[in-house]
Amino acid sequence: MFEQLKAIPPDPILSIIADYNADTNPRKIDLGVGVYRDESGGTPILDCVIEAEKILLATQSSKSYLGPAGVAGFNSSMGKLIFGADCDVIQQGRLRTIQTPGGTAALRVAAELIKAGMPSAELWASDPTWSNHLALFPAAGMEMHSYPYFGVGTSSLRFDEMLESLRQREPGDAVLFHGCCHNPSGVSPDPGQWRIIADLAAERGFLPVVDLAYMGFERGAEEDTLAVRLFAEKCPELIVASSCSKIFAMYRERVGAISIVTGDAHKSAAAESVVHNLTRKSYSMPPAHGPAVIDIILSSEKLTAQWMNELDGMRNRINELRKTLAEKIAASGIQEDFSFLQHQSGMFSFLGLSAEQVHRLRDEFSIHTVSSSRINVASFNRSNMDYFVDALGRVLN
Ligand SMILES: Cc1ncc(COP(=O)(O)O)c(C=O)c1O
Repeated sequence: MFEQLKAIPPDPILSIIADYNADTNPRKIDLGVGVYRDESGGTPILDCVIEAEKILLATQSSKSYLGPAGVAGFNSSMGKLIFGADCDVIQQGRLRTIQTPGGTAALRVAAELIKAGMPSAELWASDPTWSNHLALFPAAGMEMHSYPYFGVGTSSLRFDEMLESLRQREPGDAVLFHGCCHNPSGVSPDPGQWRIIADLAAERGFLPVVDLAYMGFERGAEEDTLAVRLFAEKCPELIVASSCSKIFAMYRERVGAISIVTGDAHKSAAAESVVHNLTRKSYSMPPAHGPAVIDIILSSEKLTAQWMNELDGMRNRINELRKTLAEKIAASGIQEDFSFLQHQSGMFSFLGLSAEQVHRLRDEFSIHTVSSSRINVASFNRSNMDYFVDALGRVLN
């Protein structure tokens, strides 16, 4: 049966983990893997999650099936968090938020839902985009194209060229946006630019699909929903694939949601039924533990405030690291300008190094990252940043 199977090379990020684990240099740094880290290099469980888990343990009475929509309270709280409790799409019954196993499954379900609604639909994504986007939309049978986004020479947004491409999209096209904290570039449209993009979506009639994996890591939990809320206000239809992996630091619990906005309450009910039909044929039902914990947090004023505080803490630490890193590089005598690091947001930025320079960082200094030179800024701390800046100077000279 399996003679024809050929081994597939692992995702580059998995080989980085393997290389890093095998590296015996005590000064080694992993800048590749996309998880938040604290000053000690760990990825701790948030205090609000620990509190909510205690409550869940004390109160849960069954592990029976929940049904395809998962934890109802989680779905409702996530919808309000992302779209705003008083928003029109909730008042009008046009929004359905359905729990999925992580943001990845939300994206995959989104792709299958679009295919079910319009089999000929094609998807446009930013150039570059998260590598898994390039795999999972085609895996659902969608043809993919790209629109200009990140300027390698300028380390900034190619806004005019992006608009030029979006102006050519039309009804039947789906366009994928990173709602905040673009992965891999760290470059996002500013609020004024998001308004222009949302107006264009309404004018051209394409379907916005927003990947919201880092809400709260750019400017704040509410501020980072701006793109979603603008699309919801201006466009009749919208899909949001959200992830709780980073924002609640619940990576392995696999918590996410797909939110669907359609033209009216009947169409939304139909869309939800299609989602349940699609997921029944793959994972059947989403897992309950993580969403139950988040439901407890978001139903409690005290735990929600604690979560917001912890989320702010993660964002502030990343921004502080960005600033310190840019300052240390500038002070080190390195000629190249890395000031862009402090103007970008979220965990990721491109250093703008060649693959050869990235390999030198790994082979000579045990600093591991992907060959595109995307780094996870959250991997820095007080004890490894100077070592990194010194190594960077050496590979640049
Ligand atoms: C841009 C983006 N979207 C979606 C995801 C999916 O996250 P998960 O499936 O772990 O919730 C990630 C995770 O790295 C991401 O970076």
